[in-house]
Amino acid sequence: MTPTQCPPDLKQAALNARDLSYSPYSKFRVGAAVLGEDGRIAVGANVENASYPAGICAERVAYPRALMEGLKPVAIAVTSDNHDPISPCGVCRQFLSEFGSDLVVHMVGKERVVTATIGELLPMGFGSKELTG
Ligand code: THU
Repeated sequence: MTPTQCPPDLKQAALNARDLSYSPYSKFRVGAAVLGEDGRIAVGANVENASYPAGICAERVAYPRALMEGLKPVAIAVTSDNHDPISPCGVCRQFLSEFGSDLVVHMVGKERVVTATIGELLPMGFGSKELTG
């Protein structure tokens, strides 16, 4: 289901955030932008590391930034320099699922945006319910 269309300012914020990417190893720039309930936006980009696994995805930069700014996230847009939309990696799906299944994920390409909820992107995920039995 497509809950909403990607707001133009959220899409633009994700596109602009690519300029903040630190990706000397993959040269794959990713930008993300989180929309808060009150309309505020927090951005992030991927930040890589010479010890490759220590790098972090754009989504996991943007989302905690949004939380620290006091936003209540309702949507996240993610984009790269690819023509087609990219979708969040498995770790990011797990990370974002922590905060509920309703978060709207807009995957922004040059000619189209694909939209899904995080619950749709990570069905049957592991969560806090498992820890409490
Ligand atoms: N990357 C993201 O930032 N988000 C994703 O959802 C997929 C991958 C980054 C990680 C790494 O810096 C680069 O893209 C290549 O994998």
